[in-house]
Amino acid sequence: MNIKIAPSILSADFSVMGEAIKKLEISGADLIHCDVMDGSFVEPITFGGQMVKNIRPLTKLPLDVHLMIEHPKTQIKFFAEAGADIITVHYEACKKISDTYLKETLELIKSYGIKCGAVVNPDVPVENIFPVFGLCDMVLLMSVFPGYGGQKFIPEVLEKVKKAREYAVKTGRPEMDIEIDGGVTEENAKAIKEVGANVLVAGSTVFKSSDMAATILSLKK
Ligand code: DX5
Ligand code: ZN
Repeated sequence: MNIKIAPSILSADFSVMGEAIKKLEISGADLIHCDVMDGSFVEPITFGGQMVKNIRPLTKLPLDVHLMIEHPKTQIKFFAEAGADIITVHYEACKKISDTYLKETLELIKSYGIKCGAVVNPDVPVENIFPVFGLCDMVLLMSVFPGYGGQKFIPEVLEKVKKAREYAVKTGRPEMDIEIDGGVTEENAKAIKEVGANVLVAGSTVFKSSDMAATILSLKK
């Protein structure tokens, strides 16, 4: 499978974001992972659609917008119009509202002609999003509890990745994107890919590296 690396700009210096984006692109990143936090679904607040709008003209890479927010449906318009290529929304935030909210939000994202995905936290069974797999271009399995970069990878999530890949194969989509987010390092990347994840988010591993290109390549290989 084609392995893609999605560095998270959460670990960038926000005062020089433009430079970071250009550096990621020349270093071989495949997507730019944008962590949107609202101070409610998760404790911190990061940024909104304006950031996506501002970085959009700086890169040809797809912008992978990970919404860690309550009421995601109300924000889709802003991120879609700002230039997101894919928007992922948390099962947990949707479930609180209603049983159909996740499906409705995914459909809304698709109505803008962009890709969509569902996300589950480390303690939520991946089976909970099986009913919307057919709608998703990608599924995202959190390997840390969302909110902060630089946390330790939760290895129990590997089993969930395996189940997700098996289900994708079983439902006729063997090439479906399965993304993993949180605590990805050069040491654990191999195990993550072996169980079937093909999109690896990496924040601190990429931004702390003294050779971004070498680190991205090593995560990929
Ligand atoms: C966690 C975010 C992740 C995180 C990744 O809430 O969704 O994207 O910043 O950072 P690292 O790779 O440092 O765990
Ligand atoms: Zn993320």
